[in-house]
Amino acid sequence: MNNIILTGFMGCGKSSIGKKLSYKVQMTLLDTDKQIEKEQGRSVSEIFEQDGEEFFRDLETECLQKLLEEGTSQVVAVGGGMPLREENRRLLHRLGTVIYLKVSPETILERLQNDNTRPLLREDASLAEISHLLGQREAVYESTAHIVISADEKEMDSILNKIKEAVEQYAAGNKRT
Ligand code: S3P
Repeated sequence: MNNIILTGFMGCGKSSIGKKLSYKVQMTLLDTDKQIEKEQGRSVSEIFEQDGEEFFRDLETECLQKLLEEGTSQVVAVGGGMPLREENRRLLHRLGTVIYLKVSPETILERLQNDNTRPLLREDASLAEISHLLGQREAVYESTAHIVISADEKEMDSILNKIKEAVEQYAAGNKRT
């Protein structure tokens, strides 16, 4: 399937880049966190608080399975923990081209300050805490992705152009092989 899947750490810009990218490539956008919140009628924080992380992870897997069954092709922004499960990594690869939006811990700190919507990262998390969690996940993000895009810069158009070009090149390469 031809979904363009945006992965990466909390605060790397998956949702905002996803929104702009979906206009640019004229595909609809699906944000797995928002989809889960809609279906559950409660926020991600409430799901973590009331039913725990494993329950939320099950919902994430179900969300990917439904997308596969539906067979649509869209821009899909996934929660930062989605690639952590092996099953999810397999589902993501079946869904389409996986892009890792790579940002530095400093960028994450700047973007997530005063944001209390992430149950796994307090709003006053230090640079060391962010670096530690990112360090634990980095290899998974890298190895799951077909394409890695550096997304530290603030210039959105430049990031969007980089993504579009890389996806086109990747698709052309796949056709040749
Ligand atoms: C999580 C990231 C969040 C959300 C949940 C868990 C994670 O999504 O799915 O809070 O484990 O990294 P964002 O990456 O969109 O913040």
